[in-house]
Amino acid sequence: MAETNRTATLNIDGKSYDLPIFSPTVGPDVIDIRKLYSDADVFTYDPGFTSTAACESAITFIDGDKGQLLYRGYPIEQLAEKSHFLEVCYLLLNGSLPTAAQMDNFEGRVTRHTMVHEQMHYFFRGFRRDSHPMATMVGVVGAMSAFYHDSLDINDPWQREVAAIRMIAKLPTIAAMAYKYSIGQPFVYPQNDLDYASNFLRMCFAVPAEDYKVSPVLAKAMDRIMMLHADHEQNASTSTVRLAGSSGANPFACVAAGIACLWGPAHGGANQACLEMLREIGTVERIPEYIARAKDKNDPFRLMGFGHRVYKNFDPRAKVMKESADEVLDLLGIHDNETLRVAKELERIALEDDYFVSKKLYPNVDFYSGIILEAMGFPTAMFTPIFALSRTVGWISQWKEMIGDPALKIGRPRQLYIGEAARDYTPVESR
Ligand code: SDX
Repeated sequence: MAETNRTATLNIDGKSYDLPIFSPTVGPDVIDIRKLYSDADVFTYDPGFTSTAACESAITFIDGDKGQLLYRGYPIEQLAEKSHFLEVCYLLLNGSLPTAAQMDNFEGRVTRHTMVHEQMHYFFRGFRRDSHPMATMVGVVGAMSAFYHDSLDINDPWQREVAAIRMIAKLPTIAAMAYKYSIGQPFVYPQNDLDYASNFLRMCFAVPAEDYKVSPVLAKAMDRIMMLHADHEQNASTSTVRLAGSSGANPFACVAAGIACLWGPAHGGANQACLEMLREIGTVERIPEYIARAKDKNDPFRLMGFGHRVYKNFDPRAKVMKESADEVLDLLGIHDNETLRVAKELERIALEDDYFVSKKLYPNVDFYSGIILEAMGFPTAMFTPIFALSRTVGWISQWKEMIGDPALKIGRPRQLYIGEAARDYTPVESR
């Protein structure tokens, strides 16, 4: 961050405090309040962190007003069109696009880490078959730290690198295993001659009785979905991973914490909730009823897949996803998809309605993703696990950036205490 010669002056009870202002490469300036409590004996108050920069990072930049998303400076639209997921993984982890040789080496390392320890198969048997795959993933990913002891030392850069490769490589295998377990089919092992997205699709849809021929178009659509979900600045699950990592917890435990946070319907769980909402609406004719509910303050219903803490313009990922939805459905010969029709009409009506326009509520990444994933054959319960396996590279890149920072301190927010002041214990007979 660039120090400026500017300061913000805070006046409290007649006393002035000068707080340094720092400037980023792009985006809002920040006011450095690190000494505020020790100097002025006050906290700042920002539940939900709407105005708080929790760290400095060089990985992803979002301009919510412009609807801009950059991975290491590259616009998501260009990457979605010209790159592929493993190249984006290299970019997020290392900060620059790989040469051909670097890409070959990286891809080779990831490919040879896609299998999980055979003992991990037994973990799944402890879960009910109808467990949500996210429950299984939280458990199994956390358990990885019980197996991969040679990549737990966070102070060893080489072990950090191996942990990152292992997570990127094994999350699709674990997600596919969670799916297979939930439908009572045997696990399918990864195949080294397949690309990353094709491998995942085959592990999900192949069966011993017959192999699964991966459609190149579906593999490309899957790869693009993974790229669009790879990272997104300091969102709730990434902040969870950073906070867990700040205590020195091992990377597998930190990513398991990120998966748990992502599961919530306000965050990564919205893709499942959105498709279920579109199905519940059912027809274009019923859209006005749900728009009214979303606007009714007395109704907790919200349009899932709409709105965003940062984007106050179109989520650029939603635009790419919408194009992908048309392509995939066309390829699959699904032309009269009522769910897509409802989604497009809902988007059109909402974007003409003053409530959504005034609150700058636009479709987000979760609005169209479910339509594509459902068309590919995934049940709604697999939507968030796919988000999680895609976001793993973002989590581990942000974790790696944080752990590599010599100024790292454990995250420990304070509070605005509104409970009782000190008082004496009273015996039960006098209460
Ligand atoms: C993701 O952070 C990230 O980057 C996340 C993510 C990533 O890649 O990591 O982008 C992925 O999580 C996308 C968001 C998925 N969630 C949903 O689609 C769930 C539905 N959306 C909302 O619940 C909401 O929009 C949030 C949670 C996404 C954002 O909430 P904020 O920023 O806290 O905004 P808010 O709740 O304060 O809402 C502001 C106003 C409120 O009205 P008022 O109280 O001001 O009158 O807008 C209203 C809200 O009621 N509002 C909605 C709405 N979202 C906000 N009203 C109807 N439908 C909605 N979807």
